[in-house]
Amino acid sequence: MSIRRLPPELINRIAAGEVVERPASALKELVENALDAGASQVAIRLSAGGLELIEVADDGCGMGPDEMRLALERHATSKLPDDSIDRITSFGFRGEALPSIASVSRLRIESRVRGSDGWWIEVDHGTPAGEGPAALPPGTRITIQGLFDKVPARRKFLRSPRAEYAACLDSVKRLAMARSDVAFTLDHDGRRILTLQPASPPGRVAELLAHELDRHGIGIDCARDGIKLTGVISLPTFNRGVADQQYLFVNSRPVKDRLLVGALRAAYRDLIARDRHPIAALFLDVPLDEVDVNVHPAKTEVRFRDPSAVRGLIVGGLRRALDEESQRSAAREQAAAPVMWTSGASYDETLARHPHEKGDPAVIAERGIPAFIGMTAGEEAKVLFDQPPAARAEPAAEPVPSYPLGVARGQVAATYIVAEAEDGLVIVDQHAAHERLVLERMRAARAGGAVGRQVLLIPDVVELDEPECDRLEGAATDLAELGLEIERFGPTSILVRTVPAALGKTDIPGLLADLAGEIAELGGPLSLRDKLDLVAATIACHGSVRAGRILSVAEMNALLREMEVTPRSGQCNHGRPTWVKLGHGEIEKLFGRK
Ligand SMILES: Nc1ncnc2c1ncn2[C@@H]1O[C@H](COP(=O)(O)OP(=O)(O)O)[C@@H](O)[C@H]1O
Ligand SMILES: [Mg+2]
Repeated sequence: MSIRRLPPELINRIAAGEVVERPASALKELVENALDAGASQVAIRLSAGGLELIEVADDGCGMGPDEMRLALERHATSKLPDDSIDRITSFGFRGEALPSIASVSRLRIESRVRGSDGWWIEVDHGTPAGEGPAALPPGTRITIQGLFDKVPARRKFLRSPRAEYAACLDSVKRLAMARSDVAFTLDHDGRRILTLQPASPPGRVAELLAHELDRHGIGIDCARDGIKLTGVISLPTFNRGVADQQYLFVNSRPVKDRLLVGALRAAYRDLIARDRHPIAALFLDVPLDEVDVNVHPAKTEVRFRDPSAVRGLIVGGLRRALDEESQRSAAREQAAAPVMWTSGASYDETLARHPHEKGDPAVIAERGIPAFIGMTAGEEAKVLFDQPPAARAEPAAEPVPSYPLGVARGQVAATYIVAEAEDGLVIVDQHAAHERLVLERMRAARAGGAVGRQVLLIPDVVELDEPECDRLEGAATDLAELGLEIERFGPTSILVRTVPAALGKTDIPGLLADLAGEIAELGGPLSLRDKLDLVAATIACHGSVRAGRILSVAEMNALLREMEVTPRSGQCNHGRPTWVKLGHGEIEKLFGRK
């Protein structure tokens, strides 16, 4: 085997594999160049998702013929005037994109500096293919055709034009959000897709996400230690099954950074189910020497000098905003809730449409009805469907005092409390509501510095995996702060001395197993406060009245009264409403009286 120097062309292809992996990444590089050139207007044309054609025209500074030739050489860039690479404000800085793209496509550059004549240069798969005078307005137009046509290894991994187009659109949206002061147009297969006039950052975000966030968004604006966070996030109740609508920016650079994504997740942790994702457009502004952008080939990841400060600001800032908005959210949910109510007339039809749901534990397990957390799917199904109707009613003799959530009148399926309020009928999910109350109680106690603990007469010994025990042992000090005092009791066992007073009677082994899982997932640089908050949510779930427990009228009313005075009680720890109300007017509508 002989060692040889690779020909420059091949080196370019290898690099191209990193920088340019699909049409969307080539497009991203071209738009970034246009923005770096000071463009106020960027016009993009695509054919077949960029597989056939990508064209980006700008009105930026343009290049002369010599500069154009140089731009096609590797590591030739105008963006690092001195040799320092730690204060980068441009999108590009490596001088790799154009030569990389030119080595795997037919690339044409047309450019004109204001006050001089235009020029064109073509390169066919790394080989010069002619140049000459060109007529165009000041600025630059770059055209890429047949990307990866002659690179089967890459071609193989490309997806359908539809999917490639979706990725291109995503890239354009991200850059258009990053630079709201620039006008953009996007045409695909001859159809105009986007026309964006210069706008304020919130205006641009609204334009690109409007239908999503105008009703369901929370504005974010906070700062700490010279770091600033602005943008908009969705209410927890407005979430998605995939994390595709999370637009994150660091100093106006679109990123898909793990730290930021993780912080966003953590902020919603007990407000949204694990498999759901918020929508967000968040702009982080950090002093240049606090962040390194030169850590990823496509520049989509960054490294912070002080990651925990950044994480703390995001988690803290978002949580505060979410807390303030939670009441509004609950109110909206309730306003929207009656549409879910079914009238007697459509009842049979509803059942006929979902016959399999009647008792299928798999369906229920997938749905994860919050009231049944901690039960197996089989147990849930039993509670829901195998029992005879378990409604109880209380006589409605006394007048209804004016409590917002009303007076308990009965319980349905040993799961829901039915109450009568002055203005309508209220149904409460007892487990979801109680879980929230326990969590808020624990939070309040912790804030007041007085966490109640309940000493177990006989300490409980819980058997777990060794790694689980290790994790719990490592978190023992944090857990003690919540009133859960544990000790290592051997390689695979943990001794529990006290449990949080807010808990009441609890399945301690189940709680510890859940906590061990939780701690493994949390990892990372999370502040103690955030960590405790999240762990508290898990504990709260275990301490809550189960669905399926028959409650006395006094217990039901006590729950209602506590909900009325507890912040955030309108939503369970998973972002679903804890209660719904059907107003008198709505009831009358259901019966055709109105
Ligand atoms: N649209 C454009 N307008 C003006 N100059 C451009 C444009 N695109 C590329 N250039 C020039 O070509 C150089 C090389 O571009 P590129 O290969 O993307 O590397 P980088 O952006 O990292 O510098 C840039 O530094 C810039 O000087
Ligand atoms: Mg570039």
